[in-house]
Amino acid sequence: MQKAAEYWNPGKVSFWTEAGTPMVIDRREGYFLHDMSGKRLIDLHLNGGTYNFGHRHPELVDVLKSGLDYFDMGNHWFPSVARAAFAEQLVKTAPHTKYAIFGAGGAEAVEIALKTARYATRRKKIVSIIKGYHGHSGLSVATGDERFSKIFLADNPEDFIQVPFNDPNALEDVLKGCDVAAFIIETIPATYGFPMPDDGYLKACQELCHKYGAKFISDEVQTGLMRTGVMWGWQGYGLKPDIFVCGKGLGGGIYPISACLVTEECGQWLVEDGAAHISTAGGSELGCVVGHHVMEMLQRPEVISNVHFVSEYFSKSMAEMMVRHSDIFVGVRQRGVVMGLEFDHPEGAVAVSRALYENGIWAIFSSLDKRVLQFKPGVVLDVDTCQEIMDRFDAAMPRARQLLKNGRRRAA
Ligand SMILES: Cc1ncc(COP(=O)(O)O)c(C=O)c1O
Repeated sequence: MQKAAEYWNPGKVSFWTEAGTPMVIDRREGYFLHDMSGKRLIDLHLNGGTYNFGHRHPELVDVLKSGLDYFDMGNHWFPSVARAAFAEQLVKTAPHTKYAIFGAGGAEAVEIALKTARYATRRKKIVSIIKGYHGHSGLSVATGDERFSKIFLADNPEDFIQVPFNDPNALEDVLKGCDVAAFIIETIPATYGFPMPDDGYLKACQELCHKYGAKFISDEVQTGLMRTGVMWGWQGYGLKPDIFVCGKGLGGGIYPISACLVTEECGQWLVEDGAAHISTAGGSELGCVVGHHVMEMLQRPEVISNVHFVSEYFSKSMAEMMVRHSDIFVGVRQRGVVMGLEFDHPEGAVAVSRALYENGIWAIFSSLDKRVLQFKPGVVLDVDTCQEIMDRFDAAMPRARQLLKNGRRRAA
């Protein structure tokens, strides 16, 4: 901790220390993390779905190891068997799209998405939702909250507009000028605490975009890869985004890779100038090999049925838990294994995160709404671990209650 504070990132070290969760992750396996003192935690943060299949899934580790016997990162300039095969596999999961463009992380995929929309429309303005989150690179951070841009003097960027979530009229007002390139939205906004889109909201947004000549971009970085019960979150809402992005779990938590999928019309820049977006580490061949296996695993019937099992398990058990702890635990937001738990205090989820940590569970609060705990079970969790999670959750509630009472007293 001391060396990390000294040489790496003093702000992060003090943040976690003050939050009461001073963790240095040591061993990791499946859905379990062990800190340096040997304390075991069940991982329900999964770094936003990066560890959808758990940590170091043996199949994925084998794929990466055997990939290393043949491949390296490759050279982004040239066609490659691994890249072409992975692109084809991704496009086949979204047949209305035509090309997959690779990056190394989610923000880069968002960057590609926004540039693609600008190319396709010859317009500059980008609309996003208030409290949306799409990463920290130049264009992506410009779509997000000033919490992440102000410090670098990148707040109030020109040509970026934000509208309230679940308000199609506000979106229409800004689209009406017919000068917007794209509206980008997470299918369920993660960093905002997974508030659920109202019935018909996302469809209305897509239709409004098309009415006024803007592109509809869905950010599937946290909602893709079966986490909402279908491969891509947009499928469950009957959408066909012009452009969508995915990352995190695409590389199985062992080799970074992200992708931006685009329709044929949007992807014309790839025909005009294939080198218009270049990324040395984007679409590395090892990442493609791992990503290809991740996608294959996600399409197995037993994995799909397990996602449904885990979703139903937590839907039922969290409803019961809410009755038992109704004084503090007031709501569950859920679609598949994407879950946000609401607590009755402006910083309720901070206290709950700490209480869970003390009881062997790792789950964190939403940065942009600290009432809400992000609760993100993995897609291949087994029933015993689900039961253990709920037992530990129940055991943690008295401590959460105590922390919240102390907090209230201090606030008063
Ligand atoms: C919805 C969403 N989009 C984009 C990103 C950015 O991804 P990365 O951190 O890989 O750049 C994130 C990261 O948390 C995210 O949650």
